[in-house]
Amino acid sequence: MCEYAFNELCKPRPEWPGEEYAFLKDSGMLGFHRSLPGYEPTPLRELPALAFRLGLGAVLVKDESRRFGLKAFKALGASYAIYRFLKKKWHDRFQAPFTPESFRDPKALAALGSFTFCAATDGNHGRAVAWTAKMLGQKAVIYMPADSVPARVESIRGEGAEVVLLGGTFDDCVRRCAGDAAANGWQAISDTAYFGYREIPGWILLGYTTIFAELEGLLHGPMKIGVDAVILPAGVGGLAAAGAFYYAKHYGSKRPVLICVEPVSSDCFLESVRFGKGEPLPTRGRQTSIMAGLNCGVPSPLAWPIVRDAIPFFLAVSDKYAEQAMRRYNRPLGMDPRVVSGESGSSGLAALLALTNSDKLAGIRSKLPLNQNSRILLLNTEGDTDPENFQKIVQAE
Ligand SMILES: Cc1ncc(COP(=O)(O)O)c(C=O)c1O
Repeated sequence: MCEYAFNELCKPRPEWPGEEYAFLKDSGMLGFHRSLPGYEPTPLRELPALAFRLGLGAVLVKDESRRFGLKAFKALGASYAIYRFLKKKWHDRFQAPFTPESFRDPKALAALGSFTFCAATDGNHGRAVAWTAKMLGQKAVIYMPADSVPARVESIRGEGAEVVLLGGTFDDCVRRCAGDAAANGWQAISDTAYFGYREIPGWILLGYTTIFAELEGLLHGPMKIGVDAVILPAGVGGLAAAGAFYYAKHYGSKRPVLICVEPVSSDCFLESVRFGKGEPLPTRGRQTSIMAGLNCGVPSPLAWPIVRDAIPFFLAVSDKYAEQAMRRYNRPLGMDPRVVSGESGSSGLAALLALTNSDKLAGIRSKLPLNQNSRILLLNTEGDTDPENFQKIVQAE
């Protein structure tokens, strides 16, 4: 099953002026990430046999499954946001520069005192916050829906964080995390924005732009983008907004066609585009997808205007496509490299399989760059974060 919508509000040359979006002027995210221990640019893989099978020119995959050894891209956001939070504290207190080196300097950190960072998550963002807190010798408290996969809960505990399991959805966890942060004097590191809280999610979004900056010189050049379409998965929309902002800033009206993918059971961006009047709407779905990282009920109000203004096409796919994509990555065609891709990680390829095979989408295929010359960029945002389910899915046929 799949659903789609073309976005009539998408602008040829989107811009986000004004104080609220002044943070987009920042630079230095890639330089910061390069300074972290274990930093390596993630690989760009090419799958020519799959491209041939799908009738495309090229399928390229930016493979985030081993970013910082954490099986997902999320540490790019959490680490940069916590760095910027500490930098701001440092400026307020000492009116002196705070650099990426200060971030790893125990003396500088000791001068700032101790913090408890908290976050809501379905897995990957929570692990990223816990990992960053551990690197800095600080505490982390992570809120997760009670039905979260045990392996994902354990990987967060493995980073030394306290995990609080709550009945309810990801959005209930966001609310409880915000409330507990206010009551206890903790610092919430939320990847979604809410009333009165935008600065941290803005820094998280900026942190994700490193994924695209790493492609400069390799795929993207000043005169040549190197791809015709980029498929961006959305949960709360931070990553999709990072991609939308990056391509709009660098290539304006000549940017590749951006495609946003979500699960059908939590398609809040698609529904906002289809039924809204420019404002974000909650999904009507029950948020039950195996693509756990994308199980979010409402778009982040910070990410929404960026996504709305820069992404022309929205697609929602059922779990069946995600499972097919995981198997295809795991058992590649011809000499294509194997890619380990978890449920949310495979959503970009799930979208591409739906776009090239589904009868429902046959009529709109020609409106997108999906011909034999088209070069498509996918992000594998996650490895096997639930190893048991991963094995079950890739072994079933
Ligand atoms: C593996 C994976 N991919 C994609 C996303 C979507 O990112 P965002 O919530 O910023 O939209 C997430 C979010 O947690 C994720 O874990």
